Amino acid sequence: MPKNITFFLLLLSLVLPAASQQDGFSYIGFSRGDANSSNISLNGVAEIEDSGILRLTNETSRLIGHAFYPDRLQFKNATDGAAFSFSTAFAFAAVPEYTTLGGHGLAFVIAPSKELQGALPSQYLGLLNASDVGNFSNHVFAVEFDTVQDFEFGDINDNHVGIDINNLVSNISTAVAYYGNDGKKNNISIKAGHTLQAWVDYDGVGKVLNVTVSPFSSKPPRPLLSFPVDLSTILHDQMFVGFSASTGLLSSSHYLLGWNFKMNGIARSLDLASLPALPQPKKKDPTFVIAISATSVAVLIAIIVAAVYLFYKIKNADVIEPWELEMGPHRFSYSELKSATKGFRDRELLGFGGFGKVYKGTLPVSRAEVAVKRVSHESRQGIREFVAEIGSIGQLRHRNLVQLQGWCRRRADLLLVYDYMPNGSLDKFLFFDDESRPSKTLLLWAQRFRILRGVASALLYLHEEWEHVVIHRDIKASNVLLDADLNGRLGDFGLAKLYEHGANPSTTRVVGTLGYLAPELTRTGKATTSSDVFAFGALVLEVVCGRRPIDHKATPEELILVDWVWERWSSGRWTDVVDPSLGGNYDREEVEVAIKVGLMCSHPAAAARPTMREAVRYLDGGDAVEVPEPPSPPMGLEGNSQAGFDDFVHSYPSSSFDKLSPCSITPTRDAAVSAGHGKVGPLAHSTFSRLSRVSV
Ligand SMILES: Nc1ncnc2c1ncn2[C@@H]1O[C@H](COP(=O)(O)OP(=O)(O)OP(=O)(O)O)[C@@H](O)[C@H]1O
Ligand SMILES: *[C@@H]1O[C@H](CO)[C@@H](O)[C@H](O)[C@H]1NC(C)=O
Ligand SMILES: *[C@@H]1O[C@H](CO)[C@@H](O)[C@H](O)[C@H]1NC(C)=O
Ligand SMILES: *[C@@H]1O[C@H](CO)[C@@H](O)[C@H](O)[C@H]1NC(C)=O
Ligand SMILES: *[C@@H]1O[C@H](CO)[C@@H](O)[C@H](O)[C@H]1NC(C)=O
Ligand SMILES: *[C@@H]1O[C@H](CO)[C@@H](O)[C@H](O)[C@H]1NC(C)=O
Ligand SMILES: *[C@@H]1O[C@H](CO)[C@@H](O)[C@H](O)[C@H]1NC(C)=O
Ligand SMILES: *[C@@H]1O[C@H](CO)[C@@H](O)[C@H](O)[C@H]1NC(C)=O
Ligand SMILES: *[C@@H]1O[C@H](CO)[C@@H](O)[C@H](O)[C@H]1NC(C)=O
Ligand SMILES: *[C@@H]1O[C@H](CO)[C@@H](O)[C@H](O)[C@H]1NC(C)=O
Ligand SMILES: [Mg+2]
Repeated sequence: MPKNITFFLLLLSLVLPAASQQDGFSYIGFSRGDANSSNISLNGVAEIEDSGILRLTNETSRLIGHAFYPDRLQFKNATDGAAFSFSTAFAFAAVPEYTTLGGHGLAFVIAPSKELQGALPSQYLGLLNASDVGNFSNHVFAVEFDTVQDFEFGDINDNHVGIDINNLVSNISTAVAYYGNDGKKNNISIKAGHTLQAWVDYDGVGKVLNVTVSPFSSKPPRPLLSFPVDLSTILHDQMFVGFSASTGLLSSSHYLLGWNFKMNGIARSLDLASLPALPQPKKKDPTFVIAISATSVAVLIAIIVAAVYLFYKIKNADVIEPWELEMGPHRFSYSELKSATKGFRDRELLGFGGFGKVYKGTLPVSRAEVAVKRVSHESRQGIREFVAEIGSIGQLRHRNLVQLQGWCRRRADLLLVYDYMPNGSLDKFLFFDDESRPSKTLLLWAQRFRILRGVASALLYLHEEWEHVVIHRDIKASNVLLDADLNGRLGDFGLAKLYEHGANPSTTRVVGTLGYLAPELTRTGKATTSSDVFAFGALVLEVVCGRRPIDHKATPEELILVDWVWERWSSGRWTDVVDPSLGGNYDREEVEVAIKVGLMCSHPAAAARPTMREAVRYLDGGDAVEVPEPPSPPMGLEGNSQAGFDDFVHSYPSSSFDKLSPCSITPTRDAAVSAGHGKVGPLAHSTFSRLSRVSV
């Protein structure tokens, strides 16, 4: 009798897997095939590279990439509805833009759809969105490999693996590590960018899920996580299985190199050596290729240019629209600017930034020296709204602003004419890249302090002293220009309208520069005077310390300038942070005030920052003004003021933010919005908040 049963079961076990539609698969590298024959379904920005590596995201902000096995798999026994055992092994890597910062993460997912419609990037990992997070009708199960500590979701650190059930708050999570054969636990850093192998094994009888990670081909003897869970209630009968990855303001390239999956069995481990190699960090030395192609292209271009020239000469007059004519005297003709800049010749180039190039020019008649900023912008609407405001922007006058003299529009280009600042931008005096060191003069402390006071008063003027509130949105060292007397003058004001229009009209972009972006800005998408104050604080610290707000050449503890200054300030060792190239020649009291103001202004909670009026008062100080101690972030972040937290701050692997953990689980964004915290304006209805989420 028992013999018969055994035989029967054996037969069954041989027959059944073959009868069920699919019991496993294996990808050793991935193949793109032709357009539709790829045997893995991709969406978002996921792509299969020539090497056979599957790249889920690259190092651009706020991306989502998904890769799913194309067919549904039967995850439950149709008779009794119990979830089957399954097992999977996959090899992945996350190569971040800034090694010590990481940039969101990757997750193994079992989900009802391959698209995960409506999911958000950043801390949502491309799995869920703010409105469905935590809802048990999602039927989403994930194992996350997260490189950013997100307080909203109670992340334990910025290098963890967690089990997520319909939520991004993990049911269990732990720092990434593996057990050696000697039983010792070894830490692994996902952010180091090496290929790792992970195993996810579910025992449908014992109802336990194990997760194991290792940098090697063989499976460690002990799993990293072992979590009792009955997947029967979470999964549908048939589900898709795959991966999701996302980037936020900070980003990583997330790669998948191989993937084995087995239902009702044990997936084979991957031999990491037989998988495609990770792309090498890009090296820039294709000079001779460029030389060759340049020659041939040049000949071609010469022919085309000759042919097109006549046509354009007639067709390409400046675009003048009736409403522009009402704008007054500020309009320049294109030919005037062209001859001023000697045909926008490269030798006249002063520099280039996010929107285009800046040329030096001499106006034909007045012989006045100007800087011409050539903005190429895809959004006609953006340019239109901007030009509509130029009339009023042109009226802004302050001795610490770079005067806008006028503009010119020509097809998709907008040319902005500013006073020429002979000493260029502040960044060139503060940060010495090795080549420029000998040629630059050092700014003395007195000069630096005067520049800061100048910029502060210009910003106060924009915020409070003019008829409208003007938010600058892009305060940073390269937008502070120095005139002949080394006075600081703020440039690029009033460009906010252009920033608001991205290439895609359906998105509202928060543009700014990493390190100057206030945390609540990335959350609400709405720039405020207080987010300008944040950037001003970052600028002040930069000037004091002579280094960038985020400097990936610095040691990990010094990477984020504001954290480092905080740490030194609170331990009373603030003299450590003062730019060493000043050689100790500075006014202690002024430096102390500057550091205080810098810390106060770049406080993570908007409510704790001073206004520009207060900042100016502190800086102009004199003996009568008492500069308060900067409120320390842990204290400042109690209660409501936490509402401004977002992934950007969460990404700081910093001591000062780590201390927040106990009190810093933020309300969900909807709660924050409806409770009316922070500066969320009338735009903060759900559509807007979703847009800003997606595109910040
Ligand atoms: N009025 C000016 N006089 C002299 N040099 C200028 C002037 N305006 C800009 N520059 C130079 O041109 C460079 C590029 O300026 P641009 O504003 O395009 O870029 P950015 O300030 O680095 O970034 P962003 O696009 O965010 O403003 C600046 O770094 C500065 O050195
Ligand atoms: C996918 O296709 C490649 C070649 O086209 C093949 O080697 C691989 O086994 C296929 N994988 C699956 C899971 O179908
Ligand atoms: C791929 O599939 C789409 C529709 O699914 C079809 O329109 C397209 O022609 C296909 N391309 C090729 C190369 O087969
Ligand atoms: C990353 O991918 C996006 C979308 O595919 C693309 O627009 C962007 O240029 C890429 N960025 C880099 C740095 O390759
Ligand atoms: C499904 O469950 C039934 C009843 O528990 C059992 O007899 C059957 O073998 C199971 N099928 C599979 C494929 O495990
Ligand atoms: C959130 O995702 C769900 C699908 O999971 C979608 O139906 C819903 O519209 C999304 N919500 C938002 C605000 O995008
Ligand atoms: C969960 O999602 C379902 C369907 O999307 C919806 O009907 C339900 O109201 C949601 N529950 C909560 C608590 O949001
Ligand atoms: C996982 O956590 C959620 C709360 O986030 C809880 O409702 C659920 O019961 C947990 N599931 C398991 C299996 O522990
Ligand atoms: C491993 O990581 C944990 C948590 O991050 C840490 O407490 C521990 O000191 C680390 N161990 C080693 C050997 O680095
Ligand atoms: C999970 O790990 C435990 C040890 O922690 C082991 O006893 C069990 O067999 C493992 N289960 C699976 C499905 O790998
Ligand atoms: Mg600029």
